[in-house]
Amino acid sequence: MDHLYLCPCHFGLEAVLKRELTDLGLNIVRVEDGRVFFEGDAAAAAKANIFLRTAERVQLVIGEFDASAFDELFEEVKALPWDEFLPVDANFFVSKAYSVKSKLFSPSDIQRITGKAVVEAMKRKHRLTIFPKSGASFPIRVAIIKDHVTVSLDTSGESLHKRGYRKLRSAAPISETLAAAIIMLTPWKEDRILVDPFCGCGTIPIEAALIGRNIAPGISRSFAGEEYPFIPSRIWNSAREEAKSLIVRDRKMAIEGYDIDNDIMTAARQNAAAAGVLDTIHFQTRDMRALSSSHQYGFIITNPPYGERLGPDTRTREVEGSGSNIKRVSKSDDNSGLPALYKDMGEVFGKLKNWSYFFVTSYDKAQESFGKKADKNRKIYNGMIKTYLYEYYGPKPPKKQ
Ligand SMILES: C[S@@+](CC[C@H](N)C(=O)[O-])C[C@H]1O[C@@H](n2cnc3c(N)ncnc32)[C@H](O)[C@@H]1O
Repeated sequence: MDHLYLCPCHFGLEAVLKRELTDLGLNIVRVEDGRVFFEGDAAAAAKANIFLRTAERVQLVIGEFDASAFDELFEEVKALPWDEFLPVDANFFVSKAYSVKSKLFSPSDIQRITGKAVVEAMKRKHRLTIFPKSGASFPIRVAIIKDHVTVSLDTSGESLHKRGYRKLRSAAPISETLAAAIIMLTPWKEDRILVDPFCGCGTIPIEAALIGRNIAPGISRSFAGEEYPFIPSRIWNSAREEAKSLIVRDRKMAIEGYDIDNDIMTAARQNAAAAGVLDTIHFQTRDMRALSSSHQYGFIITNPPYGERLGPDTRTREVEGSGSNIKRVSKSDDNSGLPALYKDMGEVFGKLKNWSYFFVTSYDKAQESFGKKADKNRKIYNGMIKTYLYEYYGPKPPKKQ
């Protein structure tokens, strides 16, 4: 039986996600800002979770309706076919509610009313007053956009950017989904050299190596949907087997990652090893200003410093995991070193013959300091931070005879 699914993504990356879904053979139903809807059977959920590089989650849509009052929300949620999805011992809960430009705007109230309505629906079906909630977790998500409500079941659990390989993080790591999307927005292919001169904990080189070797990003992690009776384990197993069979084990690639911070380079190597691609990437501690290459037609894909400040700060961004290896980061007001750094970048990159370069940054004077207008730029939201991907295209290499 086919279901409607939705995948949230970073704002600005909808087209890349759409392309990924189409390549997986899934039918796109509609595209909105930051969300792509598609339809498919239970196997589609497993495939999407394991193979998608740019989606944040895969959510099964239980229902959609308009509501501008809480009693409407309650009645509509109660009327949804919960019994088709939730077993009697399900540990169901509303894990996330948000509202944009809608009359119902309090996330905590939306969460509470939705939760109550699901309990009522379950009571009616199972003729129970109390539910044991001793079984698997079923996180429910509610989004209200311009009074239109989407109620869904999260099949991913932890966000899909958490591939499982990034044990150690730099001060300002780029999200894995964003790194993959940026690489996929460029014409880079695995037979061309790719250099990230500000690679931090290695996210861009690692995502490029995963793409180049066709390693599915979710191959080694688990998903909430693995506990759902309507997506049986044989479906997950066969999607994982398919992913394993598609890995290219012996592809030679030239992927290089550099950073000025020696500790970060150690972290990058460990992360690449955890991702199974350390043998594909050359990491070295090096100042960007020392970058040179005898190759032609290469690619720089990078996320240079944008004014991040190290140390404890109230405006810290999400920090994964725990431990002393993590430096916290926020946007600093001190951008004093950036004009010189971006100017040097412009000079260093400009010396690389026939190269293309792509950098993503939230530094607002990036282009001016770099000294060359980008052929194209693209606005991408990294959470709440507005960033731009600046794209500079070099010539294509001559066709091999
Ligand atoms: C925004 S972070 C990049 C984060 C990276 N994309 C990741 O996912 O971890 C910028 C990086 O530039 C490095 N950096 C700063 N100045 C540098 C320079 N002159 N040469 C090379 N790396 C530098 C910092 O150590 C930091 O790791």
